[in-house]
Amino acid sequence: MAKLISDILEQNNFSRQDIIQLLNANAEDTKNIFRKAKDIKRKYIGNKVYFRGLIEFSNICSKDCLYCGIRKSNQNVERYNISDENILRAAKFAYENDYGSIVIQGGELRNKAFVNRIDNLLKEIKRITNNKIGITLSLGEQSEETYKRWFDSGAHRYLLRIEASNKELYYKIHPNTDIHSFDERIKCLSRLSRVGYQTGTGVMIGLPFQTTEDLADDLLFFKSMDIDMIGMGPYIEHKDTPLYAYKDFLMPLKERFTLSLKMIAILRIMQKDINIAAATALQAIDPIGREKAIEIGANIIMPNITPPSYRANYRLYENKPCIDENEEDCVNCIEMRIKLINGEIGYGKWGDSKHYFKRHLKEELH
Ligand code: 5AD
Ligand code: FES
Repeated sequence: MAKLISDILEQNNFSRQDIIQLLNANAEDTKNIFRKAKDIKRKYIGNKVYFRGLIEFSNICSKDCLYCGIRKSNQNVERYNISDENILRAAKFAYENDYGSIVIQGGELRNKAFVNRIDNLLKEIKRITNNKIGITLSLGEQSEETYKRWFDSGAHRYLLRIEASNKELYYKIHPNTDIHSFDERIKCLSRLSRVGYQTGTGVMIGLPFQTTEDLADDLLFFKSMDIDMIGMGPYIEHKDTPLYAYKDFLMPLKERFTLSLKMIAILRIMQKDINIAAATALQAIDPIGREKAIEIGANIIMPNITPPSYRANYRLYENKPCIDENEEDCVNCIEMRIKLINGEIGYGKWGDSKHYFKRHLKEELH
């Protein structure tokens, strides 16, 4: 027999069945889930929100994910690669504006020149910011040697979303097995942790073929992998991608949004001390989507600091927000939004995952 949501929320450990029930909760019960997640957040990590200035430095990608607007088979996108000089300028902007951290994100490439380029950029960014800025990388699957090299050059957090932790679903949205391997992706997450990164992963919510059971398993996957940071948000169709053909079979955008908030809230209750990002995709559905996520559990936001002239071409999905803004407008806008929900920005801080330090029994340094 189904339990009462209030009874489930009292427990310390959720079973798969409990999570499924929470994900299916009605509007009234969902309010209680959100309330509990808010309490846990306040108690374990407080109301600080940390910035990660996001630099989307190139949309050239060797992968062919069926949902992504910058997949290599998409001929309708103008490819760009921001110069080192402009990347350094963006990093400097983040440093001078007290962001604390940046994320360097781009399409996945693995060649030697690319690996060297990132390595040099990392050293240079550390140098021009007096070793102060925290650097997260989001550059896909790489060898352990590459991860180690980048770590030694100054990166200390890495994002690699598993996208879907159900292997079958993973291959439905990444069918080309010449370039996509689920097992390799899992191995990459282990490599990252072994090298010493704070490791982040995540999934898309509302994908075609995805079930509530899959989402419950995603949350259990994060727990079993002992993940430090999560970024997850709604799947949003992009018309130049193969997955667009399934657009009529998806749940409505608003439901995808609410389900994403539920995923965040349940995860906050399950994994109390991890960092959870308010994904930009939330804002593609609701103008204050990211703020809503922060209210119910997220504590990280990634203001876009990509030079504005490139932003329109880093369109992973339709309706991507903040494409016309410049860097200063972005930060003013986000600051005001966070104040409105009684959050406080952790300026100048790395805002590392407390979970990581617990895992490594280390003291937080920054
Ligand atoms: N909708 C939502 N998120 C997407 N991403 C890529 N394409 C889409 C889409 N159509 C996400 C992936 C990737 C991250 C950088 O962007 O999860 O890991
Ligand atoms: Fe580039 Fe998926 S299309 S990693």
